[in-house]
Amino acid sequence: MRPSLTLTLLALGSVAQGAVSLEDSSLSPRDIEDFKRAIEARSLVDDIWNDIKNAATCTACQGILVLLMGVAEFGNSAFVNIATGLCELAKVEDTDVCVGTIALEGPIIANSLRNMDLGSETAQLFCESFLGLCAEPTVPQWNVPFPSPKPSTGRPAPSGKTPLKVVQYSDIHVDPLYVSGSSTNCTKPICCRPYTAADEPGSSTSPAGPNGDHNCDAPVSLETSLYQAIQELVPDAAFTLFTGDIVDHAVWNTSQAYNQQSITNAYTSMSQYLGLVYGTAGNHEASPVNAFPVASISNSSQWVYDLLSDEWTPWVGVSEKADIENFGAYSTKYPNGNLRIISLNTNFYYRMNFWLYQETMEQDPDGQIAWLVTELDAAEKAGERVYIIGHMPLGVGDAFHAGSNYVDQVVNRYSSTIAAMFFGHTHVDHFEISYSNYSSQDAAHAVMTSYICPSLTPTSGMPSFRVYDVDPETFAVLDTTTYIADMTNAAFQTTGPVWTKYYSAKEAYGSKLSPPVTDPAAELTPAFWHNVTALFQSDSASFNQYIAYKSRGWNVASCTGDCATAELCQLRAARSENNCQTIAPGLHFNKRSEVVDEQEHAVNSDECGLSAGMKTLNSLAMRKDLLEELASRYNALKGSAAY
Ligand SMILES: *[C@@H]1O[C@H](CO)[C@@H](O)[C@H](O)[C@H]1NC(C)=O
Ligand SMILES: *[C@@H]1O[C@H](CO)[C@@H](O)[C@H](O)[C@H]1NC(C)=O
Ligand SMILES: *[C@@H]1O[C@H](CO)[C@@H](O)[C@H](O)[C@H]1NC(C)=O
Ligand SMILES: *[C@@H]1O[C@H](CO)[C@@H](O)[C@H](O)[C@H]1NC(C)=O
Ligand SMILES: *[C@@H]1O[C@H](CO)[C@@H](O)[C@H](O)[C@H]1NC(C)=O
Repeated sequence: MRPSLTLTLLALGSVAQGAVSLEDSSLSPRDIEDFKRAIEARSLVDDIWNDIKNAATCTACQGILVLLMGVAEFGNSAFVNIATGLCELAKVEDTDVCVGTIALEGPIIANSLRNMDLGSETAQLFCESFLGLCAEPTVPQWNVPFPSPKPSTGRPAPSGKTPLKVVQYSDIHVDPLYVSGSSTNCTKPICCRPYTAADEPGSSTSPAGPNGDHNCDAPVSLETSLYQAIQELVPDAAFTLFTGDIVDHAVWNTSQAYNQQSITNAYTSMSQYLGLVYGTAGNHEASPVNAFPVASISNSSQWVYDLLSDEWTPWVGVSEKADIENFGAYSTKYPNGNLRIISLNTNFYYRMNFWLYQETMEQDPDGQIAWLVTELDAAEKAGERVYIIGHMPLGVGDAFHAGSNYVDQVVNRYSSTIAAMFFGHTHVDHFEISYSNYSSQDAAHAVMTSYICPSLTPTSGMPSFRVYDVDPETFAVLDTTTYIADMTNAAFQTTGPVWTKYYSAKEAYGSKLSPPVTDPAAELTPAFWHNVTALFQSDSASFNQYIAYKSRGWNVASCTGDCATAELCQLRAARSENNCQTIAPGLHFNKRSEVVDEQEHAVNSDECGLSAGMKTLNSLAMRKDLLEELASRYNALKGSAAY
């Protein structure tokens, strides 16, 4: 008789944590011998596989964790070697991408695994994110404390005065190694680099134009054309919001020096062409990508904060230096009006920030939420209006339910002070609505709009930026107009990108609502946006138009049935636990080319993470041969250790 999987897990779990050796555990010597044989005979793998087949997926995942934790116990290099080998076997990426990415992110994953307790909330989250095998645990209850009760005043009425113009652009992902004429057809996350001789200009049968391609990140020429277009088309802009992600998607080949150069180049260019710019920290600014530890664990992203502080303080003031250097956020007064800009470091709520999978996860990483409350309370007392900006919108599947829930409580409390919120990250054009009661998602309960700006990088649509018409007194958003550079225009690769108005939200949707919202002075309130989602539900032409706008007319797929239901659910979920995303092996990892066609319309899962480690672990839940390989390599490690 061999011991049950649970027993095996318990004993192995304590071994994996290094707390006790197998022989010291409280199991009888007979049990220990039995399950040692079970593992060596790979029946652990059979048990796991049966559990997966029988849909006992969370238990199965704990079994896989035992093996991964066991490997991690042998140190970072053992973990990196084995994970890289599995990545190559699984063929989730090219060998150099497997090697480079896992060398960067493997040690962070191994660190989390070494500190993990089987069956804990962290282990469940890990199983959900990395393997698609557990549901996300219920949000641990935390009633965010507020220093004062919510006032009864609502959103202020628009002043009717001449609107200001505010610009937003996002996800520029500039590739300094983009080579015009190199191949646009490659097997890596981004092309347009001469990876092989056949990719070189002159040899390639699918040469890249000088100004960008949908299979590639933005060349510097496209970035420059964006800033010039803003200068020309919006010369009267009051200020600009840049919602992050400067560094390209060649995440297997980043370094601190490389990212530093990209970040410095981008902000230097912005300050050359644009006036006042408010920035925020994208997940791609760090190297390894996404790696933003809380301060109590590591200072490995301190250089990002220090650099952003240097770049931002000319715009936001030296008084913000301390907050930026502490956790990458700031709260600053707009000098020409009654507005405060609060820039949040959303990487603290980001599923692909592997530093967050600590056994005791911080309820409020680095105290950012408590800080946000203090800033908002002061703004409310001072009668200021507030814009919150951040990189990742908090309703997407990439946002942990817990962090998203806590921020949502804050947004609800200060919904009459916050005029609007602005994000990027998903690369597509959409929005999210916050409600005061997510069980009553109607116009009366809609309290906030998150505007999500489409990207400059052309990997999921035409290069874009936004212009908001805003009330100069209340800073309410009165309209949003998206501009694009149409890559099918012959001029794009010759005389250069031609930037034109694509659509205005009020023009596209306002007249179709009842009552119509067409008055230029009317605010696009959260209730307006809720009514737009109701329009999408009742009028498929409007919904299809929205779907086309999402990717700016590029590669537009049809979205009906479950896809449409999921899309509406996501629009009505600024709180990620309400976004209707369910977990399944493989969910997060469609290849880029498929993302827009098959998945992005439905769930807006971003294509920014590009974690080879995550893809590799995910394949363990889908391919028994890989799991057997992991078990066998783990056994080989154990065999070679003095044990
Ligand atoms: C890209 O390259 C592959 C392999 O060489 C080839 O099979 C495929 O047809 C190419 N695709 C395009 C769109 O040229
Ligand atoms: C990796 O980055 C370095 C610069 O840091 C660059 O010289 C090299 O060409 C890059 N490799 C690839 C495959 O893009
Ligand atoms: C990070 O901490 C280490 C010691 O714990 C210190 O030597 C190093 O200078 C710190 N790095 C930065 C960028 O602050
Ligand atoms: C939220 O809405 C639901 C459905 O209408 C209702 O049952 C519930 O009482 C509401 N919750 C609060 C706190 O008002
Ligand atoms: C939203 O629609 C409701 C009717 O369903 C209407 O009463 C309300 O005025 C609309 N709100 C806005 C801002 O358009």
